[in-house]
Amino acid sequence: MEITLTYKKLDKDDLSEEDQQLLTAAESARQNAYAPYSNFTVGCALQMENGQVVTGNNQENAAYPSGLCAERVALFHAGAENMGPVRTLLVLAKNAEDALASAFPCGGCRQVILEYAMKQDIPIRVLMLLENEQLIELEDAKSLLPFAFSANAL
Ligand code: THU
Repeated sequence: MEITLTYKKLDKDDLSEEDQQLLTAAESARQNAYAPYSNFTVGCALQMENGQVVTGNNQENAAYPSGLCAERVALFHAGAENMGPVRTLLVLAKNAEDALASAFPCGGCRQVILEYAMKQDIPIRVLMLLENEQLIELEDAKSLLPFAFSANAL
């Protein structure tokens, strides 16, 4: 048995105008990250099916586990505002030296992204900015989490 993962590597210039705007929105969001403990700042922007863009950034706390990742801040905001389906999730990050770092969602975020993908009827496309300024594009966020735990098991 085998699971294969298909993805694209893109240059920034390959992005559509809409995706470039998403990148700009994620970068502005990153600048508002509250990350005094890790100094690792993450920005996330969601292109909603209804045309709106929702952003999030990581919000840390002195009680470390109380903080939240950028992806979840964005998704929970979209959920809280009942904004409908997410078409694309873009994430980017900078490290303590303020250099781009590869922005791969953590396991907890993958679980949350998966559940949001399952409750809508279109796939969530994922764009992750890499430290070399290229992007990885996944057509369907579900491929981020093979053998996922989901509500189907409950
Ligand atoms: N972080 C995110 O915001 N998203 C991820 O997918 C990975 C990690 C945040 C959490 C924490 O504030 C900092 O990055 C370092 O782990």
